[in-house]
Amino acid sequence: MVIENASSTSNEAKRLEALRSYEILDTPPEAAFDRITKIASLVMEAPICLISLIDADRQWFKSRQGLDAIETPRNIAFCSHAIMQDDVMIVSDALEDLRFVDNPLVLGDPAIRFYAGAPLKTPSGYKIGTLCLIDRKPRKATASQIECLRTLAHLAVEEMELRIAGRKALEELRSKQRELSKMRHELEQTRRFSAMGEMSASIAHEINQPLAAVVTNAQAGLRWLETAAPDLNEVRSSLKRIVNDGYRASTVLASIRAFFKKGPSEAIPLDINEIIQEIILLLQSELESQEILVKTELGNSLPKVLAERAQLQQVIFNLLINAAEAMSTTKDRARVLRVKSVGHPSEVVVDVEDTGPGIDPNNMDRVFESLFTTKSGGMGMGLSICRSIIEAHGGRIWVTPSTPYGSNFHVMLPIAGASGES
Ligand SMILES: Nc1ncnc2c1ncn2[C@@H]1O[C@H](COP(=O)(O)OP(=O)(O)OP(=O)(O)O)[C@@H](O)[C@H]1O
Ligand SMILES: [Mg+2]
Repeated sequence: MVIENASSTSNEAKRLEALRSYEILDTPPEAAFDRITKIASLVMEAPICLISLIDADRQWFKSRQGLDAIETPRNIAFCSHAIMQDDVMIVSDALEDLRFVDNPLVLGDPAIRFYAGAPLKTPSGYKIGTLCLIDRKPRKATASQIECLRTLAHLAVEEMELRIAGRKALEELRSKQRELSKMRHELEQTRRFSAMGEMSASIAHEINQPLAAVVTNAQAGLRWLETAAPDLNEVRSSLKRIVNDGYRASTVLASIRAFFKKGPSEAIPLDINEIIQEIILLLQSELESQEILVKTELGNSLPKVLAERAQLQQVIFNLLINAAEAMSTTKDRARVLRVKSVGHPSEVVVDVEDTGPGIDPNNMDRVFESLFTTKSGGMGMGLSICRSIIEAHGGRIWVTPSTPYGSNFHVMLPIAGASGES
């Protein structure tokens, strides 16, 4: 007896690659596929219906109605033959078909007599399996039943394609999240750096004056000693050391300050709304976990501001973090963070408003000072950095109480091309 060889297709390697790209083999049953086999078996009134995927040496069932086996060897599978054809393969009576007459699935369980299998064809044309119907008695299939089988096979492939698209979208989302957390890390780093810069500024300010006095006094002492006594080399050299140390300390502080001082920035025209949205996205999970509702009212087609991107990100970041920190104690009302941007003829104003406890009127003038903080773990640098940045951009930052509670921080930035800018 001549039996057609169905153990391999002509494009087998690529076909298997296509099948594996769906990552569906050996996955648990899924309702979407079970619904397809259920409809097919109802329409055809057949007791067995399968979504069979033809792997290298087995057929594995993604969905099955009326059959317990989860897979069978490929060399005895009817579906191995069905994927050799372009359209639905019908075997009306297996006992009258030379290819199947001595097949163990015909002679033994599940005793196949009737078979109808529609190839599952991928968009690139690979037949990775079938949607098939099996009956234990010989019979025929009507044209509309065959058409129905064809359509459901198409639907099964579409389901698989959807899963690939879903995985791709998830992967993209994950990579976006990785990018965001990297950006968040960098911003935090910059924040610390600027904080150190600001801190060194105030340390320098505090220490420079006494240092200058040490230097002046030491020099005066030296002059006095030189006229009052004939030989005081020992005293002179130690006083000189004081002078030297004094100079050195002040030089070190000056160089730290110079190192952290914001150098000439790479100011470019920027859309402030873009930055606001970026930072909100960056802090989204943090804000969500603190049950903070973010409301944005961003002006349409705002004029651009001339600024350095990283610095503006820093400002918005600090303001949003402060608002979130302020609302951490808000228990009896909604935690709402409102970010608003408005364009004016020569400037753009951003408001960051929260429903936190607000600022004590006595502290209103001090919140922008460096090292002023009311938080146990705060450095008191965030707002002073914001102010340095905004003023370096020719803008202004201030705060007003928000009614009935909370604070409202305002940032004004001149627009690119406005007076003074080129
Ligand atoms: N949205 C706000 N609501 C109420 N108080 C605020 C708000 N923003 C800032 N403040 C007050 O201003 C102080 C200074 O804020 P700033 O951001 O400069 O420092 P910080 O948040 O305390 O510490 P860090 O250096 O970590 O930012 C805060 O400690 C807080 O008392
Ligand atoms: Mg802060």
